[in-house]
Amino acid sequence: MGKVTIDGIEVEVQDGINIIEAAKVADVHVPHFCYHPSLTVVGQCRMCLVEVEGMPKLQAGCSTTVKDGMKIHVWNEKVEKARRGQMEFLLINHPLDCPICDKAGECPLQDYSFNYGSVESRYGEFKRTYPGMDRTAIGPHVVQNMNRCIHCTRCIRFCQEITGTNELAFFKRGAATEVGVFPGTPLDNWMSACVTDVCPTGALTTREFRFESRVWNLESVDSICNGCDVGCNIFIGYRNGQIFRYRPRVNPDVNDHWLCDYGRFSYERYDTDRVVVPKVRNDDDYLGISTWGEALDAIEKAVKSAGKIAAIASANMTKEEATLAKAL
Ligand code: SF4
Ligand code: SF4
Ligand code: FES
Repeated sequence: MGKVTIDGIEVEVQDGINIIEAAKVADVHVPHFCYHPSLTVVGQCRMCLVEVEGMPKLQAGCSTTVKDGMKIHVWNEKVEKARRGQMEFLLINHPLDCPICDKAGECPLQDYSFNYGSVESRYGEFKRTYPGMDRTAIGPHVVQNMNRCIHCTRCIRFCQEITGTNELAFFKRGAATEVGVFPGTPLDNWMSACVTDVCPTGALTTREFRFESRVWNLESVDSICNGCDVGCNIFIGYRNGQIFRYRPRVNPDVNDHWLCDYGRFSYERYDTDRVVVPKVRNDDDYLGISTWGEALDAIEKAVKSAGKIAAIASANMTKEEATLAKAL
């Protein structure tokens, strides 16, 4: 353990962690794009620059390890000027897509643009575009809009380091560099949609959630995926009783930052397998539409009149279902 001071706040932090993680202990946010706590550090977006007393140049918060006694400045004029410069570079080629972009409302690039983006651009030339690459299905679940990519490589590292499937890579060079899949090898692994979570822009979105809802119109609730017995931690995004998406909720002991595609899209079963209109069979054996109250009364009557009750429980049940089954 060592003591570091971040924006005047002294905190005790673990040895060997980087400045971004140390700043979290002091509740200070270091803006960043390419750094992800579960992926290797590449230090390529330069958004995380901070000032470290005694060092002549600004340092990358993701690739600089804290040392005992370090004094770090995350939010001062010098650092903010560097961040504004970096945002100007990134926005040279970024489209003004936010009104039609599914990432809007939860997009780090959009948030930082509000904070550090310039209202006017000094760049008078045409923006670089990737013709024909603004809605490419690169796998069964993931749609790519290359025009929105900021080349952070998080998606590529995810496929290298987490799934080990290596479907994604950089192709071409210089300003023409693009993220893509190898010919004949779609992004089709068991956790492929996680690239849409790690992508800090709307360059990668899921086919299932695309254009379904603005994210700020969704309510979110913490839950557990019941697709299998792992019980990955999730956020359920819903509106008016309808589920629109599952997103992974970080739990290092269970699912870390990830969610498998089967579990992620398993909410679709609630669109089809749900009892939306109850029916009750009457004494004449006629199965007729009933109210929910009549259906629940019929269930209560049947349960009370049964000599014995058996319930088949499964690891796929929710905690609530398992508790009710036990109480029977
Ligand atoms: S990726 Fe972010 S900044 Fe870019 S258009 Fe989408 S919401 Fe806006
Ligand atoms: S697609 Fe997204 S995650 Fe991949 S390099 Fe581009 S911005 Fe980064
Ligand atoms: S987060 Fe540090 S360089 Fe990208």
